[in-house]
Amino acid sequence: MPIEDIPQFIQELESAGELKRVKTEVDTDLEIAEILRRAMYANGPAILFENVKGHDMPVLGNAFGSLKRLEIGLETTDFTEIGQRIVDMTKMEIPSGIFNKIKKLPELSKMSDSFSKLEKSGPVTEVINDNPSFDKIPILKTWPNDAGKFITFGLVATKHPETGVRNLGVYRIQILDSTHAIMHWQKHKRGAHHHDISKERGEKIEAAIIIGGEPATVFSAVAPVPEGFDKYLFAGITRKKGIKTVKCKTIDLQVPANAELVLEGYVDPTDVKDEGPFGDHTGYYTPKEPFPIFTLTGIMQRQKPIYLTTVVGKPILEDAFIGKVIERSFLPLIKMFQPEVVDFAMPAAGWFQGIGIISIKKRYPGQAKKVMMGLWGLGQLALTKFFVVVDDDVNVHDMNEVLWAVTTRADPARDSIIIDRTPTDTLDPSSPLVNLGSKLGIDATQKTKEEGFEREIQELVKVDDATKSLVDSRWSSYGL
Ligand SMILES: Cc1cc2nc3c(=O)[nH]c(=O)nc-3n(C[C@H](O)[C@H](O)[C@H](O)COP(=O)(O)O)c2cc1C
Repeated sequence: MPIEDIPQFIQELESAGELKRVKTEVDTDLEIAEILRRAMYANGPAILFENVKGHDMPVLGNAFGSLKRLEIGLETTDFTEIGQRIVDMTKMEIPSGIFNKIKKLPELSKMSDSFSKLEKSGPVTEVINDNPSFDKIPILKTWPNDAGKFITFGLVATKHPETGVRNLGVYRIQILDSTHAIMHWQKHKRGAHHHDISKERGEKIEAAIIIGGEPATVFSAVAPVPEGFDKYLFAGITRKKGIKTVKCKTIDLQVPANAELVLEGYVDPTDVKDEGPFGDHTGYYTPKEPFPIFTLTGIMQRQKPIYLTTVVGKPILEDAFIGKVIERSFLPLIKMFQPEVVDFAMPAAGWFQGIGIISIKKRYPGQAKKVMMGLWGLGQLALTKFFVVVDDDVNVHDMNEVLWAVTTRADPARDSIIIDRTPTDTLDPSSPLVNLGSKLGIDATQKTKEEGFEREIQELVKVDDATKSLVDSRWSSYGL
């Protein structure tokens, strides 16, 4: 059975030896963040802080900080399955004729199992707080020069102002006072898109910040699901069971019923303030930039909620593992658009938006460049700064193999493309302008005569079968 909420996730992590409880009193001001970072850099456990100074709410961090924890949370050891389910859905034909339709019913009902279901109440409606305030929540300050306290793992719910399609995105939120905060939805993200449409219509946009929920729902909020695809459905597909939702009390949004806390409010596009600095995924402080203000209008919560948080900084921290699972689960979708793609890696050290390595089964001249240009037009992959394309004999997850291919199969003048003034990640510390920078693509596939490669194509060194068998059979006698 899929995991329903954070308390159940904690139990599962604990019984797998993946979680430790800290009973010593700890401070939300820098101390908890430093403990979480040290634990992550040492491949340590998820941590539940049970005694948080000035608060009676426990704090959970590093909950997704290993592949094992993600396997437990998402209940799969093969993350590509998640994307494959979506690909299979898009291929599903609804046949004509009643008998054929009946034959398809099991498949169709499996699909409908993933839809969310609206309930009258749920764990998160146990307490309705009409006098809402951020003050009772153990929100962390994570780096010494951060502008203040930030909610770092809130799932921000909005809906498309015209189509009503629901979204969840993890965007950090800087606390200003008891009821105001700054919403850091970057320009290219769905939340910001919804906000821009509302702004054009001269409206405020309703938003809810959700803490906790099913691990699959948390994962879905980070996943780069394209606009038009309901993220609640994506969560249901991920866990093979639809999530339960409830209505907010002060705004017209549905939110996961199994959440720990729901902070309801609205974002006013005309009310903008400088956000940051904030110690970011890149390992640098992202400087101040203007973002709109969120006003808190209500809180729904469990009797005893747990505050889920995360800490970012120079890789590799918790976000790297979530990124790895996104990389694996989106591979089938990438293949749907670029069928020659064999494998794909977004190395964690490149904070997942910095660099991507793609292997392809090359059939025609220029195909590597076609693939990189295709990916630069695909959702959040558009923000990737460097792409390296290699042949399918290269393991994209082994940087030694990738560098070998780059240095033996690519000629810089012939095999690289630079495109200037393209959208880039807001967090990129090196781009000349915020949100605008250049791309470098390296075609490190073996060049062919058709690609103007006039020289002899050198043969790869490879041991012959006879020598291999001889050495295999005598290996133990060498005393090595
Ligand atoms: C811990 C963490 C913090 C994040 N903070 C932000 C943020 O402040 N702003 C942002 O735009 N994206 C942030 N992201 C990335 C988005 O969650 C991610 O791009 C997601 O796909 C956005 O969803 P959407 O555009 O589909 O709504 C963060 C991701 C993680 C894992």
